[in-house]
Amino acid sequence: MNRPFVFINVAMTADGKIDTFERKGAAISSAKDKERVDKLRAESDAVLVGGHTLLDEDPKLTVRSESLRAERLARGLSANPMKVGITTKADIKPDSNFLNIGPARIVIFTTHQTSMEKIDSLRAHHVEVFVHEGPRVDLPSALRTLKGLGVNRLMVEGGGTMNFELMKLGLVDEVTAYVAPMVFGGANAPTMAEGLGVPREAALHLHLMDVEKWDDGGVILKYKFGRKNDNNYT
Ligand SMILES: NC(=O)c1ccc[n+]([C@@H]2O[C@H](COP(=O)([O-])OP(=O)(O)OC[C@H]3O[C@@H](n4cnc5c(N)ncnc54)[C@H](OP(=O)(O)O)[C@@H]3O)[C@@H](O)[C@H]2O)c1
Repeated sequence: MNRPFVFINVAMTADGKIDTFERKGAAISSAKDKERVDKLRAESDAVLVGGHTLLDEDPKLTVRSESLRAERLARGLSANPMKVGITTKADIKPDSNFLNIGPARIVIFTTHQTSMEKIDSLRAHHVEVFVHEGPRVDLPSALRTLKGLGVNRLMVEGGGTMNFELMKLGLVDEVTAYVAPMVFGGANAPTMAEGLGVPREAALHLHLMDVEKWDDGGVILKYKFGRKNDNNYT
């Protein structure tokens, strides 16, 4: 395969929301889920986020557990997986967590909407910047580039727009969701898959691989992308 194995991980409420209508990055994961996510990061070669999550939430995307970082080092890997951001305009603050909390290799895919001055300053910060020619980043090409950089296992940590763009292009192998026993409601609160959506006949079909019921009231759902008739749905 000329791209990495790609999986999405989300934390969502029972009504399918990945944030509240305020879009301030509401906490959804339980303590146990945070440990699970940390382990998934530690097992990945890179962690990818979309532009809004990157610029509005400024995630660290590092492995929190010291022992998991030590295990990676013992396997000859870097302490943290590569951080990857995809955004049309990479106005990332020089003092951001994304750029400064590490150590981690950092890769940005962007377009010519990002000024040359900004690109130079990111590169001076040791960020590897790939500038795509079109109005958007060509996602299949970005994944090929990541594979070329040694990324075999890519974790996608949202948000909903990024998730759906990748899903729609058939670039996602698995989806794992932690479903918290909460309801956020709100027509404008984001869900796991945003964008314009598809009509019913073009629904993206999943195959349920595993379900775990947790003592904290949460549920883990693990899906792989399947063919249309795998589950007898049309
Ligand atoms: N609970 C969870 O698991 C979880 C995880 C992550 C995020 N979230 C939530 O998700 C929300 C953010 O999601 P979102 O859907 O608004 O945004 P998002 O998916 O984080 O980012 C979308 C942006 O990514 C960039 N992008 C995506 N595809 C691109 C392409 N092909 N080329 C260039 N740029 C591309 C665009 O940035 P530009 O704007 O630069 O064009 C686009 O507007 C927040 O509320 C956050 O809290 C929840």
